[in-house]
Amino acid sequence: MSKLMEIDALCFQIQAVRRWINQWFLLTAGTLDDFNTMTIAWGSFGGMWGKPFAQVVVRPSRHTLKFLEKYDTFTICGFPQDYRQDLMTLGTKSGRDGNKIKETSLTPAPSHSIEAPGFKQAELIVECRKIYWQDMEPANFLNPRTKEQYPQKDYHRIFWGEIEAIFGTAEYCS
Ligand SMILES: Cc1cc2nc3c(=O)[nH]c(=O)nc-3n(C[C@H](O)[C@H](O)[C@H](O)COP(=O)(O)O)c2cc1C
Repeated sequence: MSKLMEIDALCFQIQAVRRWINQWFLLTAGTLDDFNTMTIAWGSFGGMWGKPFAQVVVRPSRHTLKFLEKYDTFTICGFPQDYRQDLMTLGTKSGRDGNKIKETSLTPAPSHSIEAPGFKQAELIVECRKIYWQDMEPANFLNPRTKEQYPQKDYHRIFWGEIEAIFGTAEYCS
């Protein structure tokens, strides 16, 4: 993996919709000694309260939710396509049932500005500190078809994190 450079949030460039929906990320919360990670494909990067922020959504059944609730920070990591199978593993197995990271080729690595770790193989690491959370309110779904995403009524908890630092390859810097 080529060396990552620190990227000013105002210069951060990404094909956000394609990246989220087609290429996915890993969401990691906790500390280097006590963390969990899972694959995510729904979320956003943007600006709120005059600050750069990232938003992720996590269903109540995810083991990672416990870590998001307990700890203040999380990372969102993007990987080259070579790691897609690893992301599939981390998105279909639960850390509740064992050390799923050992089943992948990924290596956790300390972050620069926060406690939550990133990964050595990442090409993009967005370091976030929680600033807000909210549970989705089904009564507020304005398109009735959205409810079809929740046959078990396991509505997501939404977390917003202020972006404290971004590290990435040159393609993420404009
Ligand atoms: C491509 C992909 C995208 C996913 N996106 C999300 C997401 O945005 N939010 C979510 O709650 N679960 C999402 N999941 C499901 C979790 O990654 C999955 O349930 C995982 O096993 C949870 O791991 P954990 O129990 O160790 O937290 C996704 C899974 C895949 C394969």
